[in-house]
Amino acid sequence: MRAIEWLLLMPILSGPWPCLCRDQLPNSLRRHMNRSANPCTDFYEYACGNWVRTHQDRPYSSLIGKLDHVYHGRLAKLLEQATTPGAPEEHRFVRMLRHYYTACRSPLGATPSAEFMLRLCRMVEVDGNSLSVALTTLFQADVLLEINESDLPAVWASLILRPSAEGDRNASLYQPLSREEFDQLWRILPAPGESPDEVWQKVRHLEEVITAKIKPEEAARWATNPKDTGAQVLFPVPAYWMLPWPTYETGILYVTHLSHHLASQPPRFLLHYLLLRSLRRDAERPPWSFTRLECAAQARLFITHAAVWLVEQHHPHLQANGTLQMLFGELKQQFGLRVRANRNKFSAATQRFLLEKLERMSLRLSILPSPGVVESVEQRLEQHYRKLRINASDYFGNLLAVMEHSRRQEERADSKYDLQPVKVYGYGTYASPFFMPRANALLVPLSLLEAPLFRPDQRQVLTYSSLGFILGHELSHGFAPVDVHFDALGRPNRSKSKSMLTSRRYLSQALCLQRRHGSFFADEKFADLNGLDLAYGAYFEAGAGAVAGEPGRGTPAQKQLFFFNFAQFFCSDDKNLEDSEEHGSDRLRVNDAMASFDPFRQAYGCQSVRSGTRSRCQLY
Ligand SMILES: *[C@@H]1O[C@H](CO)[C@@H](O)[C@H](O)[C@H]1NC(C)=O
Ligand SMILES: *[C@@H]1O[C@H](CO)[C@@H](O)[C@H](O)[C@H]1NC(C)=O
Ligand SMILES: *[C@@H]1O[C@H](CO)[C@@H](O)[C@H](O)[C@H]1NC(C)=O
Ligand SMILES: *[C@@H]1O[C@H](CO)[C@@H](O)[C@H](O)[C@H]1NC(C)=O
Ligand SMILES: *[C@@H]1O[C@H](CO)[C@@H](O)[C@H](O)[C@H]1NC(C)=O
Ligand SMILES: *[C@@H]1O[C@H](CO)[C@@H](O)[C@H](O)[C@H]1NC(C)=O
Ligand SMILES: [Zn+2]
Repeated sequence: MRAIEWLLLMPILSGPWPCLCRDQLPNSLRRHMNRSANPCTDFYEYACGNWVRTHQDRPYSSLIGKLDHVYHGRLAKLLEQATTPGAPEEHRFVRMLRHYYTACRSPLGATPSAEFMLRLCRMVEVDGNSLSVALTTLFQADVLLEINESDLPAVWASLILRPSAEGDRNASLYQPLSREEFDQLWRILPAPGESPDEVWQKVRHLEEVITAKIKPEEAARWATNPKDTGAQVLFPVPAYWMLPWPTYETGILYVTHLSHHLASQPPRFLLHYLLLRSLRRDAERPPWSFTRLECAAQARLFITHAAVWLVEQHHPHLQANGTLQMLFGELKQQFGLRVRANRNKFSAATQRFLLEKLERMSLRLSILPSPGVVESVEQRLEQHYRKLRINASDYFGNLLAVMEHSRRQEERADSKYDLQPVKVYGYGTYASPFFMPRANALLVPLSLLEAPLFRPDQRQVLTYSSLGFILGHELSHGFAPVDVHFDALGRPNRSKSKSMLTSRRYLSQALCLQRRHGSFFADEKFADLNGLDLAYGAYFEAGAGAVAGEPGRGTPAQKQLFFFNFAQFFCSDDKNLEDSEEHGSDRLRVNDAMASFDPFRQAYGCQSVRSGTRSRCQLY
């Protein structure tokens, strides 16, 4: 909230806003803008305010979501294509992918899901994996991979707050059970070895606790700040919910309370209870099925490398490698200048550490492994998936299999970086690039290199302001407080980061970031600002760079276009002003970056930041 306050406090200029003239702004960008917004106070609104209207009724809610959408459409089409008779046999990992898709596309009536739950209930050990598969099936959830068993409250919270929970709330059934209903359900599904009276007591107690009004002392337990009851943001019953939900207005505090309470229940009891409730619901709803794109998305999420291999066979993108490597080289050069300026007065050893890390940092496109000395990429993939069994007519069994496979990968440290890890949970999209501290490498999935973000022949100013920023952001993570202690070869060295803190300037700038954005966002805000700075510098300042100049480079109109296009990356239907994702809300990310970036304020003729008060925190 802090950041919003200070945005409002900034001096407000009166219009008219400088013209971003028609011939300079491509129509594909212009239609997203809200001309009545003031770029100096809310640049996000100015650049993206009309995005929602131009993308109404689309199944995605952000530009970056659109990239996934396009990708999944492609993958679905490839998976539906019959193999040509007479063609060489497909790799096993591709057949597995097709089987996953086939099973996922079959209608899932009420019965398979109940049967499956019974199978889980009979399992000797009910662990986090089986629970998460159960949750996925019962709540018709976007699949929850990367579940952290030791943090079950977080699993529940992410289930309750997942984006699709804002869908059809009429599909939720959230009245508590009556004793009669319970008895009816019990006749269909008794719990082995227990009497109905015992179980009913437990069910009734659970349902009472989760629908009762939260008492002040409980509120104090969940709220980190006792005064902050989180009452301002309401979370009504999620879509497809099937547990009791209170009738009073519920906020984040309730969600926290519910998550903790559910997580504290014995898994076996909880599974049985969930199953009873699902039987009740399924009696009232028709069989359901996943859509083509949902199944493609799941196949990509669970059997990622096979999916990526298949798409890349048909849509090669590697010609962009040259462009991106060159851009990355220029950003590294820019950052090298900052480090060499040594404003922190680091020791010679620390300077060597930083510069060597920068020098060796690499950029990889595609998450597929490179061919080994003796093995081909395909052989490495076969090897990776050799133990995974997928059955074309057992959707739920497949879910268990892929989760088990992914857990084994997680546990075996030696295989962890065998294939590049893929994350979607916590990143929100597969198109997200990321920095891998232990490899000292950036990974940019090829799915990012699509219109509207990237077209092979687009103007350089558009490439620098989108991909340049993105690469700059990820590069910066390597030098942000959390990850800076990994050396050039990715080995952690805590004593190094401690010794950096003996620089008074570095320490004060790190604290400045924390104070302004909270420790949670400090790294991200640094990466945003530094990334923007590097991209801007590479395009406008590195005059003798390897690239030939574009006409008009350095004019105010070009600078405006640069920032305008930068903001496009964040366009979304920004409903959650302060969402919980690690980067903060899209609006805040754009506006925070702009608020303290002087070249922006000059380009748009905004009053500049008063020196000393709101200049940015600059680590290097
Ligand atoms: C455009 O921005 C102005 C000023 O922020 C706002 O009042 C208006 O509702 C916005 N228009 C649209 C269509 O969102
Ligand atoms: C899982 O959550 C626990 C508790 O929050 C945490 O300590 C642990 O590091 C997490 N594990 C992983 C793999 O994220
Ligand atoms: C949910 O039900 C309400 C009241 O019956 C109705 O007005 C609304 O359109 C329904 N919403 C959806 C998404 O079906
Ligand atoms: C991309 O270019 C880099 C540097 O030129 C090279 O090392 C790498 O092998 C290329 N990657 C691919 C997939 O072609
Ligand atoms: C695949 O699943 C179906 C339905 O659960 C089962 O009948 C069949 O035996 C399974 N096939 C294999 C090879 O496991
Ligand atoms: C870690 O950094 C310290 C201080 O710069 C250095 O002396 C030490 O050799 C490094 N340790 C390793 C394992 O590289
Ligand atoms: Zn980041």
